Amino acid sequence: PESAEAAGSNLPFNPIGATPDDVDAVRVPGGYRWQPVIKWGDPLFSGVPALSARGTTPAAQARQFGYNCDYLDIMPDKGSTTRGILVANHEYTNEDIMFPPGTDAKFMARTALAAHGMSVVEISRSGAGAAWKPVRDGPPNRRITGTTPFTMSGPAAGSPLLRTAADPMGRRVHGTLNNCAGGTTPWGTILSGEENWNQYFLCAGTSEKEERYGLGPDGDERMWRSVDPRFDATRPGYRNEPNRFGWIVEVDPEDPASTPVKHTALGRIKHEAASVAIDKATGKVVVYTGDDERFEYLYKFISRRHYDDSGTAAAREHNKKLLNDGDLFVARFTGDGRQDGVCDGTGVWIPLTMGGKSMVPGMSLDEVLVYTRLAASKMKATPMDRPEDVQVSPMSGRVYMACTNNSKRGLPGEPGTDEANPRPENKDGHVVEITEMDGEHTSRRFTWLLFLICGDKDSAGTYFGGYTGPVSPIACPDNLAFDSRGNLWISTDGQPSAIGLDDALHCVETAGTYRGRVRQFLSVPAGAETCGPVIHDKDGSVFVAVQHPGEDGSWEAPQSHFPDYGKGVFKGPRPAVIQVTRA
Ligand code: FEO
Ligand code: CA
Ligand code: CA
Ligand code: CA
Repeated sequence: PESAEAAGSNLPFNPIGATPDDVDAVRVPGGYRWQPVIKWGDPLFSGVPALSARGTTPAAQARQFGYNCDYLDIMPDKGSTTRGILVANHEYTNEDIMFPPGTDAKFMARTALAAHGMSVVEISRSGAGAAWKPVRDGPPNRRITGTTPFTMSGPAAGSPLLRTAADPMGRRVHGTLNNCAGGTTPWGTILSGEENWNQYFLCAGTSEKEERYGLGPDGDERMWRSVDPRFDATRPGYRNEPNRFGWIVEVDPEDPASTPVKHTALGRIKHEAASVAIDKATGKVVVYTGDDERFEYLYKFISRRHYDDSGTAAAREHNKKLLNDGDLFVARFTGDGRQDGVCDGTGVWIPLTMGGKSMVPGMSLDEVLVYTRLAASKMKATPMDRPEDVQVSPMSGRVYMACTNNSKRGLPGEPGTDEANPRPENKDGHVVEITEMDGEHTSRRFTWLLFLICGDKDSAGTYFGGYTGPVSPIACPDNLAFDSRGNLWISTDGQPSAIGLDDALHCVETAGTYRGRVRQFLSVPAGAETCGPVIHDKDGSVFVAVQHPGEDGSWEAPQSHFPDYGKGVFKGPRPAVIQVTRA
């Protein structure tokens, strides 16, 4: 087998060198150039002001591209090379660099609520391979924010655990928060993970059910309760408001009038993302989703009903309900010993819910779905080194999971190392390769191997899929994407503190002679994390969301000037989606 590059990829490149962590630039390989597609504050509708020198306002922000873009998809319309839809998550806000000192706290809270959520934007270009531009007033254009109404779906919808004074039926929630990564379904909707949503709530934090999710009296530093009482979960009537976050949400980007949904059947955790596969044998939909916190777990959901691939409008409506009903499992990894020289072994998917019933002793169905972490612990799932994104290879069907790092692995009082999490105080992270038994995504058993054990190649314990030639240094894998040839693209979040380099996008072959050869494609500006990524290799394009550039700076002392570099009205950094094309 040849390398993808040798076999005629439309994205041939020589890896860029490592970028020191103070370089405030996007770096791309020779023969490529980059440009912004859309930036924080860009109006999605006419009549909406652009970002001013003082930033934005609550009303403008609700109709502008939001802050800290993370999940990204670029979806060309069927049969068109010049039109499409961009969807992005807006994970969180950096008030210190968004607002001048002394800005009114309630003004900041209202603006930040509007800067969270998601954006759906029509995009157009002159032809295949050209750069995409946002279309103001495009028919699908939509902002989803921290106040947009959502419907709860699945077995826990309407549960007493989800009821509040404002929603006594427990079925209608305002907003989606801390949307990290996500996934695009085969029926064209977007799934998005509510990740560190606990930070928006003031809570007593005295129960195990609150503590396990990080809810407590130190939350709510943005003081959103000053503009909306539901963020004070110590108040009678609002104790359950935090239970209404921590879900996978589904948005139909083709219908801006549709009410987005929160799917309780997939459990309530700190969802990093959601990756969908269709099981070949049964036609059922399988969703893999990681819980990104130290010592948390990997889950998968299997739908009860089957995917309808007929492409009709009725089929799409059917498919949009598939995540309402199904079984939820959590992963247990068992090593086969390190004598064989690799970290690998077998695993089982432990049922938490089956056939609409709880499989966890002492917990009801809605308790399992609302307090999913506690249920999974009872069933002895394997605590992992922060499960981030999961992706399924379009070539092999194997499932890849990024475990980004875990500074507490092996410390006194914390879980020790095991073959699936082999390094103490794991600062560099690893990538797990899972092969479902018989190649079926609905299987209850699997084998696994640590495909990458990240770091500088020469540092102890690293492993690059068995490849022994030169590789780029890599740490803190976060988001994953496949190109059409089965190469895995890995974006990072944390390389600066782990290995002293700016965060990056890497490409690695997963099969053939060059399996495990990590090559760096780009690096992002100072303080930023690389998100997205979207790889349209047939088009010669790579897209990334540049999140939190200059994160550790302030309004007075910006640490990044990306992407305007002094040419814009707003002088601070702006999170933005960029496109890299061949020059
Ligand atoms: Fe928001 Fe797990 O990264
Ligand atoms: Ca082994
Ligand atoms: Ca992430
Ligand atoms: Ca991250």
